[in-house]
Amino acid sequence: MTAGAARPPASVVLATANPGKLAELARILADEHADVTLASLADFPCAPEVTETGATFAENALLKAHAIAEFTQLPTVSDDSGLCVDALNGMPGVLSARWSGRHGDDEANLRLVLGQVADVPDERRGARFVCVAALVLPGGGEHVTEGVVTGRLIREPRGENGFGYDPIFVPDGYDITTAEMAPADKDKISHRGRALRALAPVIRRSLR
Ligand code: IMP
Repeated sequence: MTAGAARPPASVVLATANPGKLAELARILADEHADVTLASLADFPCAPEVTETGATFAENALLKAHAIAEFTQLPTVSDDSGLCVDALNGMPGVLSARWSGRHGDDEANLRLVLGQVADVPDERRGARFVCVAALVLPGGGEHVTEGVVTGRLIREPRGENGFGYDPIFVPDGYDITTAEMAPADKDKISHRGRALRALAPVIRRSLR
């Protein structure tokens, strides 16, 4: 490199193959003026599969970030999220993606939760989406942030956007579900948006 040439942007791996999450983190880092090149697991096809065995969102996020940082030797960001229902003592929580027994079966998971809270009256149908985002540096160092959006569960699914439990979740201050929101509007209030926005300045500082 010639003297005075600009430093190349630092690389960060997002421990997901989900292009939607990658685009969201890229938008948030750009808003934070973080000069970062993002890679995802799609760029590391031999990366280890990490099973989410943790008891908390933070444990799972750190588990994934540590495994991928060790494999790639690059700063790694990961997240873990789920729905916590008051009337179910905070479940499905870390089991949100496999609540019905089949990992990723959004429709079955949603139907099971709706059935479980069928007799719960309106005033006790509180719930929240939680996301924990983690940054792990390969040379040592980790940082964790949390984002939460509180709301309530309705009785019949509404809306076509989003995924997972979005069709039955109405955030506080709204009367539409997160599946009825435009994706950019959901991003602004979402648990993931909040956790990643809190992590973005930490990423920027860590890569200086
Ligand atoms: P993961 O963090 O991508 O592993 O997501 C865990 C699970 O939580 C998903 O499969 C969904 O069931 C649920 N979940 C997490 N975030 C959301 C959301 O924004 N909307 C609806 N469901 C979500």
